[in-house]
Amino acid sequence: MDRLAQVHLTASLLTTAEADVLATAVRPVDGVATVGDDVAATLDSAYEVSLRSALDRAGAKGKPGEVTEVPVPVGSSAVTRVLLVGIGDGGPVSLRRAGAALARAARTDRLATDTARGADADGLRAHVEGLLLATYRFTRKSTAPDGPVLTRVDVHAATNRANEAAVEAAGRTAAATHLARDLANTPSNEKDPAWLATQSRGLARRSGLDVRIRDEKELEAEGWGGVLGVGSGSSRPPRVIELRYRPSGRTRAPHVVLVGKGITFDSGGLSLKPREAMVPMKTDMAAGGAVIAVMSALQAAGVRVPVTGIVAAAENMPGASALRPGDVISHYGGRTVEVFNTDAEGRLVLADALAYADEKLGPDILIDLATLTGAASIGLGRRHAALYSADDELAAQLVAAGETSGERLWRMPLVDDYRSALDSSVADLANISRDPGIQGGSIVAALFLREFVGARRWAHLDIAGPARSERDEHEVSKGATGFGTRLLLHWLEGLR
Ligand code: BES
Ligand code: MN
Ligand code: ZN
Repeated sequence: MDRLAQVHLTASLLTTAEADVLATAVRPVDGVATVGDDVAATLDSAYEVSLRSALDRAGAKGKPGEVTEVPVPVGSSAVTRVLLVGIGDGGPVSLRRAGAALARAARTDRLATDTARGADADGLRAHVEGLLLATYRFTRKSTAPDGPVLTRVDVHAATNRANEAAVEAAGRTAAATHLARDLANTPSNEKDPAWLATQSRGLARRSGLDVRIRDEKELEAEGWGGVLGVGSGSSRPPRVIELRYRPSGRTRAPHVVLVGKGITFDSGGLSLKPREAMVPMKTDMAAGGAVIAVMSALQAAGVRVPVTGIVAAAENMPGASALRPGDVISHYGGRTVEVFNTDAEGRLVLADALAYADEKLGPDILIDLATLTGAASIGLGRRHAALYSADDELAAQLVAAGETSGERLWRMPLVDDYRSALDSSVADLANISRDPGIQGGSIVAALFLREFVGARRWAHLDIAGPARSERDEHEVSKGATGFGTRLLLHWLEGLR
């Protein structure tokens, strides 16, 4: 992973003279793009520019993320450009987008900005988060990336404890998101279940977690038939990764268990995907990657509740010993499932992990994340994840965490009437809907998972839409987005 840019709080924009690019905020005031009087006066005279006329000429509106570049005449100062960055209503979402736009426009290693000067600590956190998230790059090119890499940002804001903590939190969240993106962007010739397990081991060592990896023999002995079945068509055997975070000093706190789908490549298995649909499927472990990334940040974030992360990792391939349509598998705990479509594999690996969590871990709250269904992304598009939970309080908390973190959820119904679609005549359940009169693929998948969570407080996030992006957009990067990492960290930081 690339090193994140260092972010420092500074008392004044103009004392950070080593930066060659300066930035300041533009607000829409009565429809007119406006910079602060003091800033305009100081920068205008120091660098022989006119910020106001630059905004006029560009037709700037002050919309979040709008950037007006003002070149500085060559002279005695090291400053080459001033960036005027729209911050819209100045709320966290706008400030995050403004931070991202600033980072993309900076094209320097050294930036000084007072774009967050008017913000409170939450706004500052969002702004710095956006800035750092937009610096993300993933490459396997044999040549060095072109253009400078941002290594230091001086942020002009009050240097108090709350602001220091906000910058710290932004750095931590961004680093975790970069990690989740790296894991999901790694191509599947490098990345198999054992690789994911090895990565987790290293991260656990560096971030104060206990780790247990189950290999295929242990999975066999314990009856993880879903993980084994899905992994059986691949030459690269499955793994189940269990990461444990236990805060010091607390004994009575809600125990949270996070379960992530870890399909390191989803070809569909014998129910093979069409050619183009297979291309993005190295990211089918994005949810598992987000769980690993969240776990790796808990200690530094000072999270006060115990958290266990489970990643059910398998490669879904159509090898000679692959699952066949019509096969019946037996999940952890003994429930049987008739597999009608081997491409509905995520729910099979999750079923084992959820049953295991329910039976052995005693979670007070059980949350799973998965790139589970194309249907979720058809229904909600590519920027909202589908949230399922019968627990109104938990659902409301997660939706709120989504709003503040910028990773949005939309609550969907667990329609009891659709449950009959999963009836099988030979096994306890079918893995896909058997009733053509019942569509709602994302809902039916959630109903399948519900069968394995017992009486636990449970939420399911179908992140098939937002886990990947077709382009750089605001704080999101092309390819894997790390979706869920920010959201879960925000939520966990608030628990006690
Ligand atoms: N990994 C896919 C879901 C997916 C599709 C994620 C597109 C991201 C983008 C999942 O394993 C899958 O194949 N689901 C099937 C389920 C169907 C067979 C019931 C789907 O959505 O088509
Ligand atoms: Mn699939
Ligand atoms: Zn899948």
